[in-house]
Amino acid sequence: MAIKITRPQGTEDITPKQIYKWHTVERMARETAENFGFHEMRIPTFESTDLFLRSVGETTDVVQKEMYTVKAKETEFTLRPEGTAGSIRSMLQNGLLNDALPQKIFYILSCFRHERPQAGRLREFHQFGVEMAGSAGPASDAEIIALAKAILDRAGLKNIALNINSIGCPTCRAEYHKALRAYFQPHRDELCETCQTRLEKNPMRILDCKSEICSGIAKDAPVILDYLCDECRTHFEKLQEYLKAQNIEYTINPKIVRGLDYYTKTVFEFITTDIGAQGTVCGGGRYDGLIEQMGGKPTPAMGFAMGLERLILTMESQGCEFQPPHQCDLYIAPMDEAAIPTAMQIASSLRTSGYQVEYDLMQRKLKAQMKYADKIGATFVLVLGENELQSQQANLKNMKTKEQFPVSLGEKFEEKFDDIAIQYMFHDVVNDFEKECGTHGSNE
Ligand code: HAM
Repeated sequence: MAIKITRPQGTEDITPKQIYKWHTVERMARETAENFGFHEMRIPTFESTDLFLRSVGETTDVVQKEMYTVKAKETEFTLRPEGTAGSIRSMLQNGLLNDALPQKIFYILSCFRHERPQAGRLREFHQFGVEMAGSAGPASDAEIIALAKAILDRAGLKNIALNINSIGCPTCRAEYHKALRAYFQPHRDELCETCQTRLEKNPMRILDCKSEICSGIAKDAPVILDYLCDECRTHFEKLQEYLKAQNIEYTINPKIVRGLDYYTKTVFEFITTDIGAQGTVCGGGRYDGLIEQMGGKPTPAMGFAMGLERLILTMESQGCEFQPPHQCDLYIAPMDEAAIPTAMQIASSLRTSGYQVEYDLMQRKLKAQMKYADKIGATFVLVLGENELQSQQANLKNMKTKEQFPVSLGEKFEEKFDDIAIQYMFHDVVNDFEKECGTHGSNE
């Protein structure tokens, strides 16, 4: 008996009907990052589990509750829950940090976290992320935030708030941890089991525990901004000056601590209220200690990642535009088998020139072929029957305007098709322009 197998909970299929949205956001993000001088990197989907324990941190929710880990031939691997650890591992392994600094890379990748699925929260999701290694100053923090903002602006998003905070360096963190322990100690027994162990090891992690009781208790906890050392405070003030210089609006949100252990100093998130509870579209920050901790020379670094599902959801909810997919330029309808070789030759030569061409592969009658051409949104249709083959003359039909153009088959066909297609495309652009600006344009 056949068994119907469905996709695992918390995963999504991206069908050909939706893929244009993904192509739109990936193209936008890629081009914008390239404008800022970042270059693409590709890394493995799984890494040694140790990499994430040591970078993301043993007391984080991601490591303690959410990783997909498998043991294969005595070695433990984990499906990447995020992109920073793998990118930094790759930079070190490939000697990229010996090249000119700062190293500026971006990636588009799938991530895996075993979380409770809900709108905007998946077990397999996709990130566009950037990492910049080598620069310590607050101008690079502003540059990273400006890049994230440029991508969100280019997507056409409105109503997305930038929240920034500083979570200090190991020096100020030590004082802050003392204050947190003192605050949480009286509530020790109310905390979840994981947070009880965090109280000793890493009390800051209690602040982003998803349990309602822990987050309720954490509401009035001391904030790190009150414990920053002079260097971290100056860094944070300078960052704000640079954001203002670029007219980037922000809110200081002392509650943002981020859920990963590697951060130091600046952290930030872009948050929308348009897609429900999971409204953080982009998160990032500085991580000055990570590279050294992973065996490299001390090298400051900073980055962010945006969730592509959340970005697309927000764009959809705000009615932002996606670049429509390229549809069939020419559908060739052979009326019988004898016309198929000619259809193949025309398709082959036009495809080489970059046109999207299809012909009937289903031995359908002409009426059904026309219906199919309409369904796939073909711009032009060329019907090939006995008469057309004999006379080497046919009619090219524009499916939208219903205009017919007499064309010769054979060598001259491609040239003529080019002319007609370019005229039509031009006509379409003018039409769109007139729709946007009014038929007679404007005098301004
Ligand atoms: P993160 O905040 O864990 O940071 O994730 C970044 C973004 O990925 C989130 O803001 C969200 O949009 C998306 N995201 C996270 N989890 C899920 C999920 N379960 N379902 C859907 N989307 C999700 C990082 O991953 C850091 N590596 C960012 C970074 C790069 N920091 C410095 N460099």
